[in-house]
Amino acid sequence: EMEPEERAFQEKVDADIRIEPRDWMPEGYRKTLIRQIGQHAHSEIVGQLPEGNWITRAPTLERKMILLAKVQDEAGHGLYLYCAAETLGVSRDEMTEMLLSGKMKYSSIFNYPTLTWADIGAVGWLVDGAAIMNQVPLQRTSYGPYSRAMVRICKEESFHQRQGYDIMMKMAQGSEAQKRMAQDALNRFWYPSLMMFGPSDANSVHSEQSMAWKIKINSNDELRQKFVDQTVPQAEYLGLTVPDDTLAWNEDKGGYDFAEPDWDEFFDVLKGAGPVNHDRLEARRKAWDDGAWVREGLLAHAEKKRSAKVA
Ligand code: 3HC
Repeated sequence: EMEPEERAFQEKVDADIRIEPRDWMPEGYRKTLIRQIGQHAHSEIVGQLPEGNWITRAPTLERKMILLAKVQDEAGHGLYLYCAAETLGVSRDEMTEMLLSGKMKYSSIFNYPTLTWADIGAVGWLVDGAAIMNQVPLQRTSYGPYSRAMVRICKEESFHQRQGYDIMMKMAQGSEAQKRMAQDALNRFWYPSLMMFGPSDANSVHSEQSMAWKIKINSNDELRQKFVDQTVPQAEYLGLTVPDDTLAWNEDKGGYDFAEPDWDEFFDVLKGAGPVNHDRLEARRKAWDDGAWVREGLLAHAEKKRSAKVA
């Protein structure tokens, strides 16, 4: 049976009243939010790496400016999200240390390399497309600071998705070699994008409780289905083929039947065995270590100002 304060909390959640940082909340709710928001923040930050990889090699000045702006947006998203997580009593330094020690995760998708320029198109189209599919409902998530961060993030994310589709369009309408690059990017990013939504509902340990708390609004499989239904016609419009022989429209359910990703691969990537897990964490570790003098300098400065005030 629920304690009265927990019952009052759940009633607020059920009535779509936002929970704010100073409100009473169950310890599990706080922990789940730190896990999910922190993981989300880390994903935005680590997500800069595969795209940053192409800033110096973007094919035109215009593409380079767009990509630079997009990668900067991801940094901004990471910062909003770290701030939202900090309202729950965890510091950004603690979260970063948990990321670097492997105690916290970031999205599996960023453990795949971006091998060609078409991959930048595929990342925008599919990865940001999957991210939006997940994040639009999160604008209605029960925790106030998280839901407000999502509103801003979703606006920018839809621009990211369109710029990716625009790159794909250019490639798909280009030379034979460009078309092959576009198809190859779709082939490599399709299943990893489907994995972004998490394991099947049957294997999703957190979904039931998270949905009762409205930390999550939809289940993993629901969002994956919506993503496939939205993306297949877009691939057709590009004249590209989704790498799934079983893909078929199912009139009864009003959606596509599609093949599940290889879940063994997914769990291997989560354990650190994806193609570039090691490089990603090394890059973050190096950035953290290289920035130590800045953090120390800022702390020393703040300390000096504080003691001057006391004196
Ligand atoms: N990558 C890494 N880990 C994943 C994962 C993925 N794609 N999907 C699930 N997992 C992990 C979970 O974290 C959990 O492990 P944990 O207990 O150690 O944390 C385990 O697999 C079981 O999965 P569950 O379904 O039970 O976990 P959740 O209820 O947390 O659901 C989720 C997973 C749907 C990803 C949910 O956490 C979520 O909606 N998160 C917010 C969105 C988010 O993190 N997006 C990042 C996408 S990329 C991005 O935004 C950057 C883009 O702008 C470029």
